[in-house]
Amino acid sequence: MSFLDPAHEQVIESFMKGDWEAVIEAQAVLNEPYFLWPKPNKNDLYFISDSMKRLNIERILSIGCGCGLLEWLLMVASGVKVTGIEIDKNYWKSKYARKSFIDLVFPQEEAFSENICKDNNALMFCYFNDMDAFLEYLNIYPGHCLIIIGPENCGRHTAPSPYDENIPNEWQLWKMREIATTGDYICIYTKRKLNIL
Ligand SMILES: C[S@@+](CC[C@H](N)C(=O)[O-])C[C@H]1O[C@@H](n2cnc3c(N)ncnc32)[C@H](O)[C@@H]1O
Repeated sequence: MSFLDPAHEQVIESFMKGDWEAVIEAQAVLNEPYFLWPKPNKNDLYFISDSMKRLNIERILSIGCGCGLLEWLLMVASGVKVTGIEIDKNYWKSKYARKSFIDLVFPQEEAFSENICKDNNALMFCYFNDMDAFLEYLNIYPGHCLIIIGPENCGRHTAPSPYDENIPNEWQLWKMREIATTGDYICIYTKRKLNIL
């Protein structure tokens, strides 16, 4: 199969060799978000993994991970454990599906129920696009760490956005980082402790 943009092939070839730094370089020059919307560098990956260590997080559940390139990069570059969740099992298991860089888990599967109910797992939404579903996932998640990656004031839109006013009040911004000067932000929220009177 040949791609229009040679950087597509470079991403796949470097992935096959396990060369994650070359994957980052090739992904950074892709003109279209074919594999992944943001263009993180290795320090962005380390920002996420270091934050997970500080917050005692064992695994990230990435909801709406698409083909899972960010999730693969996080795992190989930083050693953090990640599970990728997607919604449409029929599509992702079909011959028409885009290439996946990781094994996907679907909400109807046991692995999803097991992982979402662990309070030392984090939830991540990268360029997610469904506010109602986001709030539903938050409702069933008992843990204390939420990662939102997306654009802010740069002409693109996600739901939730990294600083979305619809993020429930119990979530407090803990740390943030802009991905270079792309207008994409990684925001890490923690759950406020309840005041028990
Ligand atoms: C804009 S894409 C982002 C993909 C990837 N995270 C990225 O940054 O390139 C949004 C993804 O969310 C998935 N999605 C939408 N609703 C979902 C839901 N309720 N549960 C899980 N995934 C969902 C879509 O299938 C799609 O792959």
